[in-house]
Order: sequence, then structure tokens, then C-alpha cells
Amino acid sequence: MATYDVADRSAIVTGAGSGIGRATALVLAASGAAVLVADISADAANAVVGEITAAGGTAVAFVGDVADPDVAEAMVAEAQKLGPLRIAVNNAGIGGAAAPIGEYPIDSWRKVIEIDLNAVFYGLRAQLPAMVAAGGGSIVNMASVLGAVGIPMSSAYVTAKHGLIGLTQNAALEYGADKVRVNAVGPGFIHTPLVDANLDPDAQAALAAQHALGRLGTAEEVAALVAFLASDAAAFVTGSYHLVDGGYAAH
Ligand code: NAI
Repeated sequence: MATYDVADRSAIVTGAGSGIGRATALVLAASGAAVLVADISADAANAVVGEITAAGGTAVAFVGDVADPDVAEAMVAEAQKLGPLRIAVNNAGIGGAAAPIGEYPIDSWRKVIEIDLNAVFYGLRAQLPAMVAAGGGSIVNMASVLGAVGIPMSSAYVTAKHGLIGLTQNAALEYGADKVRVNAVGPGFIHTPLVDANLDPDAQAALAAQHALGRLGTAEEVAALVAFLASDAAAFVTGSYHLVDGGYAAH
């Protein structure tokens, strides 16, 4: 596994119990960060902490729902016990219902916007002042290639991910002078439990064909970009949206 320049700091990774968040927590810890492995599932968070500590890294589990603003504050407080908070990866997300807008369930719309968009605002609102106090840091918001284009039947998800791009830009503008960088990442379709839960094998094969590389991505391929953006090597990168999409958006 390639490593990145992130030693001597703590990192919050939300949704770190599975998929992209898990892979990100593993690479940040292998690179020397002390990682708060945050997830709504205690079993999932504890399992990832076990993987990290078995590999010689430092990690602590945190169980909570990112859609609760108090949880965002508590995550910051717990991470600060591990070291100065200089990395946050706002990654937790859900897919939501599959329906055209005229039939989209109101409760699913609200839940997706709450978890995929509002919760990132709650996270930033708690993380940014802590990073200013730490002398700077790097935040990565997990958008999607669907932050740039639409896809039928997923209006809530597409709207939330588009919104994240604007929120990321605003945060970068407001906190750049304090040496806090804020970026968004836009994965194509990545083979994770989220995709397995929402798409059958035929649908996954059809989607794979829409990527120039002819396959779905891996969580590790996304985590490598996140870790680079989180690291000191990306010192002049802020306010931008970085695709890791196998060429999906190149059409
Ligand atoms: P996943 O379903 O494998 O993992 C998501 C994790 O977040 C799970 O461990 C889950 O327990 C946790 N989680 C869900 N709701 C939560 C909440 N309210 N509070 C705290 N934790 C919560 O998902 P995956 O695929 O790794 O996705 C991670 C992020 O990447 C999401 O934001 C997703 O939208 C985004 N993404 C995923 C793509 C894919 O193809 N898998 C493509 C583009 C973006």
C-alpha cells in the first residue's frame, strides 16, 4: 500500500466501517495518522479498528449518526484526544430510493439530503474551527461523479452530491487564509457494499461498461486520492472537485 504524508495528527473518517471509508481509514492509519473510525454501526467500526491496530496503527472507534449535529461536535472532541485534528473525511452516505421525481418518496428525499448533504455541513461546522485552532488541516468531502452529472431515478442523491461541491468551494474560500484546505472527491461506480445493496449483477455489468476502463473501481483506488488530498503533498490543492471515475464522465 502506498503511504502519504499525514503523521503527527488525528483524522476523522465517517462511514469508516465499510467500503471507501474503511479503505481510507486503513491508508491514513498506515501513513501515520491516528484515526477516529466513525460509523453508525458499532460492529463495523470495531472491526476496522481491529484491522488497523493489528497492522500496528492507531485507531479508535466512534459510534454515532452523522445526521446529528451533536455527533459532529463529539467526533471532533474524541479525535482531538488522539492528536491535533488536521484531517476529516466526510464520507458517510446512503443511496436512497430509486424512483422518478414525480414518484420520489418524500421521506427518502429528506433522509438522503440529511445524511448526504446536511450532515457534511454539520461536520464542517464542527471541524473547521478545530482545524483553525490546530494551525491548519485538510478536509475531504465524499461527493460522487453524480456531483457533476445526473442519473435517472436518483434525484435526491444527485442533488445532495451536487450540493456538496458548492459547500466544498465555500468552505475552501472561507478558511483558506487559516490554512484549512477543503476538497471534494467524485468516485465513479465503486464495488462496495453500497453498490451491492442497490444494484444487481446485471446492472453492475451495464454500469461497468459506461466507464472508459470497462470496470467498476475499488475502494482502495478512491482512498489513494483521498489520502493524497489529505496529505501535505497536496498543500496547494483546495476548493476543487477531483474525479476518480475510470473515465465515466469523459463521455
Ligand atoms: P458503504 O455502504 O459501503 O459504506 C458506508 C458506511 O457509512 C457504512 O459503514 C454505514 O454504516 C455508514 N453510514 C451510513 N449512514 C450513516 C450515518 N447516518 N452515520 C454514520 N455512518 C453511516 O458505502 P460506500 O460505497 O463506501 O460509500 C461511501 C461514500 O462514497 C458515500 O458518501 C457514497 O455516496 C460515496 N460514493 C460511493 C460510490 C460507490 O459506487 N460505491 C460512488 C460515488 C460516491
